[in-house]
Amino acid sequence: SASAAANKTVVIGLAADSGCGKSTFVRRLAGVLGGGGGAAPPARGNGNFPGSNTLVVGDAATVVCLDDYHSLDRAARKARGLTALDPRANDFDLMYEQVRALKEGRAVDKPVYNHVTGRLDPPERVAPPKILVIEGLHPMYDERVRDLLDFSIYLDISDELKFAWKIQRDMAERGHSLESIKASIEARKPDFEAYIDPQKQYADAVIEVLPTQLIPDEEEGKVLRVRLIMKEGVRHFAPVYLFDEGSTITWIPCGRKLSCSYPGIKFAYGFGAYYGHEVSVLEMDGQFDKLDELIYVETHLSNMSTRFYGEVTQQMLTHAGFPGSSNGTGLFQTILGLKIRDLYEQIVAERAAAVTADALNV
Ligand code: ADP
Ligand code: G6P
Repeated sequence: SASAAANKTVVIGLAADSGCGKSTFVRRLAGVLGGGGGAAPPARGNGNFPGSNTLVVGDAATVVCLDDYHSLDRAARKARGLTALDPRANDFDLMYEQVRALKEGRAVDKPVYNHVTGRLDPPERVAPPKILVIEGLHPMYDERVRDLLDFSIYLDISDELKFAWKIQRDMAERGHSLESIKASIEARKPDFEAYIDPQKQYADAVIEVLPTQLIPDEEEGKVLRVRLIMKEGVRHFAPVYLFDEGSTITWIPCGRKLSCSYPGIKFAYGFGAYYGHEVSVLEMDGQFDKLDELIYVETHLSNMSTRFYGEVTQQMLTHAGFPGSSNGTGLFQTILGLKIRDLYEQIVAERAAAVTADALNV
């Protein structure tokens, strides 16, 4: 009945290879859903117990890490020569059952993959949230799970940049050598291409991260060209646009109103096809010098789903310390966070209307 449907959880899928910004995205989303202010929640381990991979964002959202559905632990993967990306190392039946249960309002006892030991810990109880985000390697891989998603996002990081980011993280924070990082990237590549990358065709929004075109041969991955690819005709999702919906536009905002040091900032907006469906694309190449000047750019973007003037800029300033805050990755992650909030509110409003209609028997 409509009243049972009124309590259903809205499910969001967030897919990317590891080290491609899922945790960062989730932290920005938590900022938007959790009221915007305050300190950043930890990326992980903020769930039911210290070793949990689940992030609970107040009463607004729960973020489940799909690594918890690894059916083979690290030793078993090694023994069978499988990577964590291989579907055979993951339990999609259980993933489907549990995402469906949560969507229908039932709590589940979800397995917990321990990233330190590489083994499965005892399960943890997850209650049905208002918004369930499933983030990981395979949220759109299994058709049954995919069909449960109200909205899906894929973070598509080009090989060059993935490499640069992974080196920064694994060498600086984990003490790995350059050679071992190179080897691990190469070893994962075939499975990435077979099982992870194809999911982007199903995504409602893709954030594509490429090297800049403003500097010839820039290879350090410091300046980025970032594209927000938005599927047309997705329920409860109105794509963002620059100046004039439906036009093709190039915009260089640097000049009297925006101070841009070399290489400047270039926006583009237009239409295209992506895996056979119609999309609109907003692109930002370059980076902001002063984040508060983002307000000038925000003023020229429409359909942002903000609640007040300058909310995007405020969010970006609040989380200025997160990776990607001066470029399109942070900007587009923030925009998609607002879009998820808006989508949730629309679905709730639609259900409330259906419940009222049901009660009035109209
Ligand atoms: P995931 O959750 O997908 O593994 P994270 O959000 O933890 O990814 O990001 C992994 C690392 O990649 C970060 O520590 C950072 O070094 C780098 N990174 C992520 N997003 C960006 C970005 N937008 N710009 C630059 N580096 C980034
Ligand atoms: C991916 C998965 C992790 C896994 C890691 C390393 O990043 O998301 O869950 O731990 O690969 O896999 P390995 O087989 O080396 O433990």
